[in-house]
Amino acid sequence: MTLAEIRKQFPILEQQVNGKPLIYFDNGATAQKPLAVIHSIDDYYQKYNSNIHRGVHHLSQLATNRYEESRDILQKFVNARKNYEIIFTAGTTGGINLVASSFGKKFLDKGDEVIISAMEHHSNIVPWQMICEERGANLRVIPINDKGELIYEEYIKLLSHRTKLVAITHISNTMGTINPVRKMIVNAHEIGAKVLIDAAQSVPHMKLDVQELDCDFLVFSAHKMFGPTGVGVLYGKEELLNEMPPYQGGGDMIKEVTFEKTTYNCLPHKFEAGTPNIAGGIATAEAVKFMNEVGFDFIEHQEHELLTYATKRLSEIEGVRIIGTSSNKASVISFVVAGTHPFDVGTLLDQMGIAVRTGHHCTQPLMNFFGIPGTIRASFAFYNTKEEVDVFIAAIKKAIMMLS
Ligand code: ALA
Repeated sequence: MTLAEIRKQFPILEQQVNGKPLIYFDNGATAQKPLAVIHSIDDYYQKYNSNIHRGVHHLSQLATNRYEESRDILQKFVNARKNYEIIFTAGTTGGINLVASSFGKKFLDKGDEVIISAMEHHSNIVPWQMICEERGANLRVIPINDKGELIYEEYIKLLSHRTKLVAITHISNTMGTINPVRKMIVNAHEIGAKVLIDAAQSVPHMKLDVQELDCDFLVFSAHKMFGPTGVGVLYGKEELLNEMPPYQGGGDMIKEVTFEKTTYNCLPHKFEAGTPNIAGGIATAEAVKFMNEVGFDFIEHQEHELLTYATKRLSEIEGVRIIGTSSNKASVISFVVAGTHPFDVGTLLDQMGIAVRTGHHCTQPLMNFFGIPGTIRASFAFYNTKEEVDVFIAAIKKAIMMLS
Protein backbone atom coordinates (compact mmCIF):
# COMPACT_ATOMS: atom_id res chain seq x y z
CA MET A 1 0.00 0.00 0.00
CA THR A 2 1.20 3.52 -0.76
CA LEU A 3 0.89 6.22 1.86
CA ALA A 4 -2.08 7.69 -0.04
CA GLU A 5 -3.79 4.27 -0.07
CA ILE A 6 -3.10 3.84 3.63
CA ARG A 7 -4.61 7.23 4.44
CA LYS A 8 -7.76 6.36 2.49
CA GLN A 9 -8.36 3.59 5.04
CA PHE A 10 -8.70 6.25 7.77
CA PRO A 11 -11.75 8.34 6.83
CA ILE A 12 -11.43 10.49 9.97
CA LEU A 13 -8.23 12.01 8.56
CA GLU A 14 -10.10 13.52 5.62
CA GLN A 15 -12.00 16.11 7.64
CA GLN A 16 -11.42 19.77 8.33
CA VAL A 17 -11.07 21.07 11.88
CA ASN A 18 -11.58 24.76 12.50
CA GLY A 19 -11.61 25.29 8.75
CA LYS A 20 -8.23 23.59 8.22
CA PRO A 21 -7.35 20.05 7.12
CA LEU A 22 -6.98 17.93 10.27
CA ILE A 23 -3.42 17.04 11.22
CA TYR A 24 -3.59 14.31 13.81
CA PHE A 25 -0.41 14.23 15.89
CA ASP A 26 -1.95 12.75 19.06
CA ASN A 27 -1.38 9.11 18.26
CA GLY A 28 0.32 8.47 21.59
CA ALA A 29 -3.01 9.18 23.30
CA THR A 30 -5.03 7.08 20.87
CA ALA A 31 -4.51 6.14 17.24
CA GLN A 32 -7.14 6.42 14.49
CA LYS A 33 -8.99 3.33 13.26
CA PRO A 34 -8.90 1.90 9.74
CA LEU A 35 -12.09 0.90 7.94
CA ALA A 36 -11.41 -2.78 8.62
CA VAL A 37 -11.68 -2.15 12.38
CA ILE A 38 -14.75 0.08 12.06
CA HIS A 39 -16.50 -2.44 9.79
CA SER A 40 -15.67 -5.31 12.13
CA ILE A 41 -17.43 -3.58 15.05
CA ASP A 42 -20.40 -2.72 12.84
CA ASP A 43 -20.59 -6.31 11.58
CA TYR A 44 -20.65 -7.77 15.08
CA TYR A 45 -23.56 -5.62 16.20
CA GLN A 46 -25.47 -5.94 12.93
CA LYS A 47 -24.97 -9.66 12.38
CA TYR A 48 -23.92 -11.74 15.37
CA ASN A 49 -24.13 -9.82 18.65
CA SER A 50 -24.33 -12.43 21.41
CA ASN A 51 -22.46 -13.51 24.50
CA ILE A 52 -19.39 -15.75 24.27
CA HIS A 53 -18.36 -19.01 25.98
CA ARG A 54 -21.91 -19.48 27.22
CA GLY A 55 -24.40 -20.26 24.47
CA VAL A 56 -25.04 -23.33 22.37
CA HIS A 57 -26.89 -21.24 19.83
CA HIS A 58 -25.52 -20.24 16.43
CA LEU A 59 -24.79 -16.57 17.14
CA SER A 60 -23.01 -17.32 20.39
CA GLN A 61 -20.83 -19.90 18.70
CA LEU A 62 -20.02 -17.50 15.90
CA ALA A 63 -19.05 -14.78 18.36
CA THR A 64 -17.03 -17.21 20.49
CA ASN A 65 -15.14 -18.46 17.45
CA ARG A 66 -14.33 -14.95 16.27
CA TYR A 67 -13.24 -13.89 19.76
CA GLU A 68 -10.99 -16.90 20.15
CA GLU A 69 -9.60 -16.43 16.62
CA SER A 70 -8.63 -12.94 17.70
CA ARG A 71 -6.75 -14.42 20.67
CA ASP A 72 -4.87 -16.69 18.24
CA ILE A 73 -3.99 -13.73 16.02
CA LEU A 74 -2.71 -11.81 19.05
CA GLN A 75 -0.70 -14.85 20.13
CA LYS A 76 1.05 -14.87 16.74
CA PHE A 77 1.39 -11.09 16.81
CA VAL A 78 3.61 -11.16 19.92
CA ASN A 79 4.81 -14.73 19.36
CA ALA A 80 3.50 -16.18 22.64
CA ARG A 81 4.02 -19.92 23.05
CA LYS A 82 0.37 -20.62 23.85
CA ASN A 83 -2.88 -18.84 22.99
CA TYR A 84 -3.99 -19.06 26.65
CA GLU A 85 -1.02 -16.88 27.62
CA ILE A 86 -2.99 -14.04 25.99
CA ILE A 87 -5.44 -12.56 28.51
CA PHE A 88 -7.93 -9.97 27.28
CA THR A 89 -8.12 -6.94 29.55
CA ALA A 90 -9.71 -3.50 29.40
CA GLY A 91 -6.38 -1.94 28.41
CA THR A 92 -2.81 -1.45 29.55
CA THR A 93 -3.97 -0.02 32.88
CA GLY A 94 -6.20 -3.06 33.40
CA GLY A 95 -3.31 -5.42 32.65
CA ILE A 96 -0.92 -3.71 35.06
CA ASN A 97 -3.52 -3.63 37.83
CA LEU A 98 -4.20 -7.31 37.28
CA VAL A 99 -0.53 -8.23 37.62
CA ALA A 100 0.09 -5.85 40.54
CA SER A 101 -2.84 -7.27 42.48
CA SER A 102 -2.50 -10.95 41.61
CA PHE A 103 1.29 -11.30 41.42
CA GLY A 104 1.58 -8.97 44.41
CA LYS A 105 -0.70 -11.05 46.62
CA LYS A 106 1.15 -14.23 45.73
CA PHE A 107 4.77 -13.12 45.58
CA LEU A 108 5.24 -9.82 47.46
CA ASP A 109 6.07 -9.89 51.15
CA LYS A 110 7.28 -7.40 53.71
CA GLY A 111 10.61 -5.89 52.71
CA ASP A 112 10.42 -7.10 49.11
CA GLU A 113 11.00 -4.59 46.34
CA VAL A 114 9.41 -3.61 43.05
CA ILE A 115 11.53 -1.55 40.66
CA ILE A 116 10.04 0.98 38.24
CA SER A 117 11.64 3.97 36.52
CA ALA A 118 11.41 7.74 36.75
CA MET A 119 9.75 7.94 33.31
CA GLU A 120 6.76 5.70 34.02
CA HIS A 121 3.18 6.59 33.20
CA HIS A 122 0.99 6.90 36.30
CA SER A 123 -0.57 3.55 35.36
CA ASN A 124 2.81 1.90 35.93
CA ILE A 125 3.41 3.74 39.21
CA VAL A 126 0.18 3.88 41.19
CA PRO A 127 -0.83 0.17 41.04
CA TRP A 128 2.64 -0.71 42.39
CA GLN A 129 2.37 1.90 45.15
CA MET A 130 -0.99 0.45 46.13
CA ILE A 131 0.14 -3.18 46.27
CA CYS A 132 3.47 -2.32 47.94
CA GLU A 133 1.57 -0.49 50.66
CA GLU A 134 -0.76 -3.43 51.11
CA ARG A 135 2.04 -6.01 51.25
CA GLY A 136 4.63 -3.96 53.18
CA ALA A 137 6.93 -3.98 50.15
CA ASN A 138 8.99 -1.06 48.84
CA LEU A 139 8.96 0.72 45.50
CA ARG A 140 12.36 1.64 44.07
CA VAL A 141 12.84 4.02 41.15
CA ILE A 142 15.57 3.92 38.47
CA PRO A 143 16.69 7.53 37.93
CA ILE A 144 17.12 9.13 34.50
CA ASN A 145 19.61 11.57 33.02
CA ASP A 146 18.94 14.95 31.41
CA LYS A 147 18.40 13.33 28.02
CA GLY A 148 15.55 11.29 29.47
CA GLU A 149 17.42 7.97 29.46
CA LEU A 150 17.62 5.44 32.27
CA ILE A 151 20.88 5.55 34.21
CA TYR A 152 21.75 1.91 33.69
CA GLU A 153 24.37 1.62 36.48
CA GLU A 154 21.72 2.79 38.93
CA TYR A 155 19.37 0.08 37.72
CA ILE A 156 22.05 -2.54 38.30
CA LYS A 157 22.65 -1.13 41.81
CA LEU A 158 18.94 -1.37 42.65
CA LEU A 159 18.69 -5.05 41.70
CA SER A 160 19.05 -7.31 44.75
CA HIS A 161 17.70 -10.47 46.35
CA ARG A 162 14.81 -8.29 47.59
CA THR A 163 13.71 -7.42 44.03
CA LYS A 164 10.64 -9.43 43.09
CA LEU A 165 9.55 -7.55 40.01
CA VAL A 166 10.79 -4.90 37.57
CA ALA A 167 7.97 -3.02 35.80
CA ILE A 168 9.27 -0.86 33.00
CA THR A 169 7.94 1.03 30.03
CA HIS A 170 9.34 -0.07 26.69
CA ILE A 171 8.91 3.39 25.17
CA SER A 172 8.27 6.52 27.20
CA ASN A 173 4.86 7.98 26.30
CA THR A 174 6.11 11.48 27.08
CA MET A 175 9.59 11.48 25.54
CA GLY A 176 9.69 8.56 23.13
CA THR A 177 12.84 7.12 24.76
CA ILE A 178 13.25 3.45 23.89
CA ASN A 179 14.49 1.55 26.93
CA PRO A 180 16.97 -1.33 26.62
CA VAL A 181 14.41 -3.83 27.86
CA ARG A 182 16.09 -6.97 26.52
CA LYS A 183 19.22 -6.26 28.55
CA MET A 184 17.17 -5.20 31.57
CA ILE A 185 15.28 -8.49 31.50
CA VAL A 186 18.53 -10.49 31.40
CA ASN A 187 19.87 -8.57 34.41
CA ALA A 188 16.62 -8.94 36.36
CA HIS A 189 16.46 -12.67 35.66
CA GLU A 190 20.05 -13.09 36.89
CA ILE A 191 18.87 -12.22 40.39
CA GLY A 192 15.58 -14.12 40.07
CA ALA A 193 13.24 -11.14 39.58
CA LYS A 194 10.35 -11.16 37.12
CA VAL A 195 9.80 -8.40 34.54
CA LEU A 196 6.68 -6.68 33.27
CA ILE A 197 7.00 -4.64 30.07
CA ASP A 198 4.55 -1.82 29.46
CA ALA A 199 4.36 -2.01 25.68
CA ALA A 200 1.49 0.45 25.24
CA GLN A 201 3.70 2.82 23.27
CA SER A 202 5.80 0.21 21.47
CA VAL A 203 3.32 -2.25 19.90
CA PRO A 204 2.08 0.32 17.37
CA HIS A 205 5.61 1.08 16.22
CA MET A 206 7.76 -2.05 16.26
CA LYS A 207 7.47 -5.82 15.99
CA LEU A 208 7.60 -7.46 19.39
CA ASP A 209 8.47 -11.04 20.23
CA VAL A 210 7.82 -12.06 23.83
CA GLN A 211 9.89 -15.24 23.51
CA GLU A 212 12.88 -13.34 22.20
CA LEU A 213 12.47 -10.66 24.87
CA ASP A 214 11.87 -13.36 27.49
CA CYS A 215 9.69 -10.94 29.49
CA ASP A 216 7.43 -12.50 32.12
CA PHE A 217 4.54 -10.14 31.42
CA LEU A 218 3.80 -7.71 28.62
CA VAL A 219 0.81 -5.39 28.49
CA PHE A 220 -0.65 -3.20 25.78
CA SER A 221 -3.85 -1.48 24.63
CA ALA A 222 -5.71 -2.05 21.38
CA HIS A 223 -6.65 1.60 20.94
CA LYS A 224 -3.08 2.81 20.53
CA MET A 225 -2.51 0.22 17.79
CA PHE A 226 -5.43 1.27 15.59
CA GLY A 227 -7.98 -0.91 17.40
CA PRO A 228 -10.91 -0.01 19.66
CA THR A 229 -10.81 1.50 23.14
CA GLY A 230 -11.65 -0.64 26.16
CA VAL A 231 -9.57 -3.63 25.06
CA GLY A 232 -6.06 -4.62 26.00
CA VAL A 233 -3.84 -7.63 26.24
CA LEU A 234 -1.84 -9.09 29.07
CA TYR A 235 0.70 -11.65 27.95
CA GLY A 236 2.06 -13.73 30.81
CA LYS A 237 4.20 -16.84 30.96
CA GLU A 238 2.00 -19.87 31.50
CA GLU A 239 3.74 -21.13 34.64
CA LEU A 240 3.47 -17.74 36.34
CA LEU A 241 -0.17 -17.16 35.38
CA ASN A 242 -0.98 -20.61 36.71
CA GLU A 243 0.60 -19.80 40.05
CA MET A 244 -1.18 -16.47 40.40
CA PRO A 245 -4.64 -16.16 42.04
CA PRO A 246 -7.59 -14.78 40.07
CA TYR A 247 -7.88 -11.00 39.96
CA GLN A 248 -11.66 -10.63 39.84
CA GLY A 249 -14.38 -13.13 40.64
CA GLY A 250 -17.46 -13.66 38.50
CA GLY A 251 -18.85 -15.54 35.55
CA ASP A 252 -16.56 -17.40 33.13
CA MET A 253 -13.61 -17.55 35.55
CA ILE A 254 -14.97 -20.52 37.51
CA LYS A 255 -15.03 -24.27 37.05
CA GLU A 256 -17.52 -25.00 39.81
CA VAL A 257 -19.25 -22.84 42.41
CA THR A 258 -20.88 -23.93 45.65
CA PHE A 259 -21.48 -21.76 48.69
CA GLU A 260 -18.71 -23.67 50.44
CA LYS A 261 -16.03 -23.53 47.76
CA THR A 262 -15.32 -22.34 44.25
CA THR A 263 -12.80 -23.86 41.89
CA TYR A 264 -11.35 -21.71 39.18
CA ASN A 265 -11.28 -22.08 35.43
CA CYS A 266 -8.10 -22.76 33.47
CA LEU A 267 -6.15 -20.10 31.57
CA PRO A 268 -7.02 -17.70 30.07
CA HIS A 269 -10.56 -17.69 31.55
CA LYS A 270 -9.31 -17.61 35.16
CA PHE A 271 -8.39 -13.96 34.53
CA GLU A 272 -11.37 -13.00 32.38
CA ALA A 273 -14.34 -12.63 34.73
CA GLY A 274 -17.55 -11.22 33.28
CA THR A 275 -18.70 -10.41 29.77
CA PRO A 276 -15.81 -8.71 27.98
CA ASN A 277 -15.76 -6.13 25.19
CA ILE A 278 -16.59 -8.77 22.57
CA ALA A 279 -16.85 -6.51 19.53
CA GLY A 280 -13.65 -4.77 20.59
CA GLY A 281 -11.76 -8.00 21.13
CA ILE A 282 -12.74 -9.23 17.67
CA ALA A 283 -11.93 -5.90 16.02
CA THR A 284 -8.47 -5.92 17.63
CA ALA A 285 -7.57 -8.78 15.30
CA GLU A 286 -8.44 -6.53 12.36
CA ALA A 287 -6.07 -3.88 13.72
CA VAL A 288 -3.28 -6.48 13.88
CA LYS A 289 -4.03 -7.67 10.33
CA PHE A 290 -3.98 -4.07 9.14
CA MET A 291 -0.60 -3.36 10.73
CA ASN A 292 0.80 -6.57 9.25
CA GLU A 293 -0.52 -5.56 5.86
CA VAL A 294 1.11 -2.15 6.08
CA GLY A 295 4.23 -3.94 7.31
CA PHE A 296 6.53 -3.09 10.18
CA ASP A 297 9.37 -2.21 7.79
CA PHE A 298 7.22 0.54 6.33
CA ILE A 299 5.91 1.61 9.76
CA GLU A 300 9.37 1.91 11.30
CA HIS A 301 10.86 3.64 8.26
CA GLN A 302 8.03 6.16 7.88
CA GLU A 303 7.96 7.04 11.57
CA HIS A 304 11.73 7.32 11.79
CA GLU A 305 11.71 9.76 8.87
CA LEU A 306 8.97 11.84 10.48
CA LEU A 307 10.70 11.89 13.86
CA THR A 308 14.10 12.85 12.43
CA TYR A 309 12.65 15.54 10.18
CA ALA A 310 10.36 17.03 12.84
CA THR A 311 13.15 17.03 15.44
CA LYS A 312 15.50 18.87 13.08
CA ARG A 313 12.89 21.47 12.10
CA LEU A 314 11.71 22.02 15.68
CA SER A 315 15.26 22.41 17.01
CA GLU A 316 15.79 25.28 14.58
CA ILE A 317 13.02 27.35 16.21
CA GLU A 318 14.28 29.81 18.79
CA GLY A 319 12.86 29.25 22.26
CA VAL A 320 11.93 25.60 21.68
CA ARG A 321 13.38 23.08 24.12
CA ILE A 322 12.89 19.41 23.35
CA ILE A 323 12.23 17.26 26.41
CA GLY A 324 13.79 13.84 25.87
CA THR A 325 16.80 13.90 23.60
CA SER A 326 17.97 10.32 23.62
CA SER A 327 19.40 9.09 20.32
CA ASN A 328 17.20 6.01 20.72
CA LYS A 329 13.66 7.33 20.34
CA ALA A 330 10.41 6.44 18.63
CA SER A 331 7.56 8.52 17.27
CA VAL A 332 7.23 11.12 20.03
CA ILE A 333 8.53 14.67 20.42
CA SER A 334 7.76 16.60 23.56
CA PHE A 335 8.79 20.20 23.84
CA VAL A 336 8.27 23.45 25.67
CA VAL A 337 8.42 26.96 24.28
CA ALA A 338 10.14 29.64 26.38
CA GLY A 339 7.72 32.18 27.84
CA THR A 340 4.57 30.21 26.92
CA HIS A 341 2.33 27.67 28.61
CA PRO A 342 1.86 24.34 26.78
CA PHE A 343 -1.95 24.69 26.98
CA ASP A 344 -1.84 28.03 25.15
CA VAL A 345 0.34 26.65 22.36
CA GLY A 346 -1.90 23.54 22.11
CA THR A 347 -5.03 25.68 21.91
CA LEU A 348 -3.57 27.79 19.10
CA LEU A 349 -2.47 24.66 17.23
CA ASP A 350 -6.02 23.30 17.54
CA GLN A 351 -7.33 26.49 15.97
CA MET A 352 -5.05 25.68 13.04
CA GLY A 353 -6.46 22.14 12.75
CA ILE A 354 -3.58 20.41 14.53
CA ALA A 355 -4.23 17.88 17.32
CA VAL A 356 -1.43 17.45 19.86
CA ARG A 357 -1.50 16.55 23.53
CA THR A 358 -0.49 19.12 26.13
CA GLY A 359 0.04 18.75 29.85
CA HIS A 360 1.85 16.27 32.07
CA HIS A 361 0.91 13.21 29.97
CA CYS A 362 0.17 11.19 33.13
CA THR A 363 3.86 11.43 34.05
CA GLN A 364 3.92 14.02 36.83
CA PRO A 365 7.15 12.72 38.44
CA LEU A 366 8.88 13.13 35.07
CA MET A 367 7.61 16.72 34.78
CA ASN A 368 8.95 17.37 38.29
CA PHE A 369 12.33 15.99 37.23
CA PHE A 370 12.51 18.45 34.33
CA GLY A 371 11.03 21.26 36.47
CA ILE A 372 8.17 21.98 34.05
CA PRO A 373 4.37 21.91 34.39
CA GLY A 374 3.89 20.04 31.14
CA THR A 375 4.91 19.80 27.50
CA ILE A 376 3.44 19.98 24.04
CA ARG A 377 3.63 16.49 22.59
CA ALA A 378 3.46 15.52 18.94
CA SER A 379 3.20 11.76 18.46
CA PHE A 380 3.26 10.22 14.99
CA ALA A 381 1.75 7.23 13.27
CA PHE A 382 2.67 5.72 9.91
CA TYR A 383 -0.19 7.60 8.20
CA ASN A 384 1.34 10.99 9.00
CA THR A 385 3.30 12.86 6.36
CA LYS A 386 6.28 15.19 6.03
CA GLU A 387 3.94 17.82 4.58
CA GLU A 388 1.96 17.68 7.82
CA VAL A 389 5.19 18.26 9.73
CA ASP A 390 5.84 21.35 7.58
CA VAL A 391 2.39 22.75 8.39
CA PHE A 392 2.96 21.94 12.07
CA ILE A 393 6.31 23.78 12.14
CA ALA A 394 4.78 26.84 10.48
CA ALA A 395 1.91 26.70 13.00
CA ILE A 396 4.32 26.58 15.95
CA LYS A 397 6.13 29.65 14.61
CA LYS A 398 2.82 31.44 14.21
CA ALA A 399 1.71 30.44 17.73
CA ILE A 400 4.97 31.75 19.19
CA MET A 401 4.45 35.07 17.39
CA MET A 402 0.89 35.32 18.65
CA LEU A 403 1.89 34.57 22.24
CA SER A 404 4.92 36.85 22.41
N1 ALA B 1 -1.22 7.18 27.84
C1 ALA B 1 -1.79 7.99 26.82
C2 ALA B 1 -0.90 9.14 26.43
O1 ALA B 1 0.28 9.08 26.61
C3 ALA B 1 -3.17 8.42 27.13
O2 ALA B 1 -1.39 10.12 25.92
